[in-house]
Amino acid sequence: IRVAVVFGGRSSEHEISCVTAGSVLSVIDTDRYEVVPVGITRSGNWVLTSGDPEQLAITDGALPSVTGSGAELALPFSGGSDFLVVRPETAPQALGGVDVVLPLLHGPFGEDGTIQGLFEMIEARYAGAGVFASAASMDKVFMKALLAGHGIRIGGYVAVPDRAWQRERKRVLDDIADLGGAVFVKPARAGSSVGITKVADCTDTDAVTAAVESARDHDPKVIVEAAIEGREVECGVLESEDGGAPDVSLPAEVHVAAGFDFYDFEAKYLSTSGLTIPADLPAEVIERIRALAGQTFEAMGCEGLARVDFFYGDDGEVYVNEINTMPGFTPTSAFPQMWAATGLDYAALVDRLIRTALH
Ligand code: DAL
Ligand code: MG
Repeated sequence: IRVAVVFGGRSSEHEISCVTAGSVLSVIDTDRYEVVPVGITRSGNWVLTSGDPEQLAITDGALPSVTGSGAELALPFSGGSDFLVVRPETAPQALGGVDVVLPLLHGPFGEDGTIQGLFEMIEARYAGAGVFASAASMDKVFMKALLAGHGIRIGGYVAVPDRAWQRERKRVLDDIADLGGAVFVKPARAGSSVGITKVADCTDTDAVTAAVESARDHDPKVIVEAAIEGREVECGVLESEDGGAPDVSLPAEVHVAAGFDFYDFEAKYLSTSGLTIPADLPAEVIERIRALAGQTFEAMGCEGLARVDFFYGDDGEVYVNEINTMPGFTPTSAFPQMWAATGLDYAALVDRLIRTALH
């Protein structure tokens, strides 16, 4: 069975995708699967790489990336060559030569339905959510509308699309001030906390404006979320193997390392931030969280896998913060660790993703 592992991509989470791929490539069962490691550069070239996990790790705080340009790929993939480049327009044919694709891509052009659309067009099987669920889960504004529509509790927020920011700024800033307290200002379609600023006081117009501008460096569409006082909890979800309700892992609680104001990029990947698995919460709260994780997966129409992120508020309520349709698989990532604690180790998890995508 030929498996294309696709990573990197035109996304601010390019490097994290590489780290994810490095971890997956280091465990994938090469007796059962013929692996085709396809990197996508930041500029969008598709490169057949060596797939050497060591080149895809964080080394002394330095993040890996996909580099290179070169000749066009001869089709189909020939396994023999180490370094071939596929122009974007020929990539679909190249992928048509594999049995299943693992798009280990985070963020835009990978987790947002665009590459999934390409897979659908060429009838390639692939792991993870389809076009709509990917797109809707990537865009925090649409995600929240769908979750609210399903009666799932979410925090307060204000959507700041480009036009509103250009033309109705005063109204937008008033709406944000009405959220009360601290807010998180985020690019609507990004991940790994890239471009996020926490503003301590939502009525501080200058600080909010600066934060919106900085989020807009990543995405013209911005979302401002009311900060929820409480604990940060995550939960893994996998599509069931027998057509039943999705399987849900034990939840993890996130402990942000000292010195960080919130779980930002550095705190996530380059610090001593840690996880408690299972989260040390009352059994009843754990069960509420797990049930909500499954409901969120289904509400968004996800397939394959997802990680649902929560706040367990000081008010005793559980809020869904977001869903990630291609959660990080790095050595410090919650998703594989939560599944390991639930009885599915890293290699078995990767195997299950491939098997789910194949049938
Ligand atoms: N967006 C990052 C990779 C995550 O959800 O883990
Ligand atoms: Mg995310």
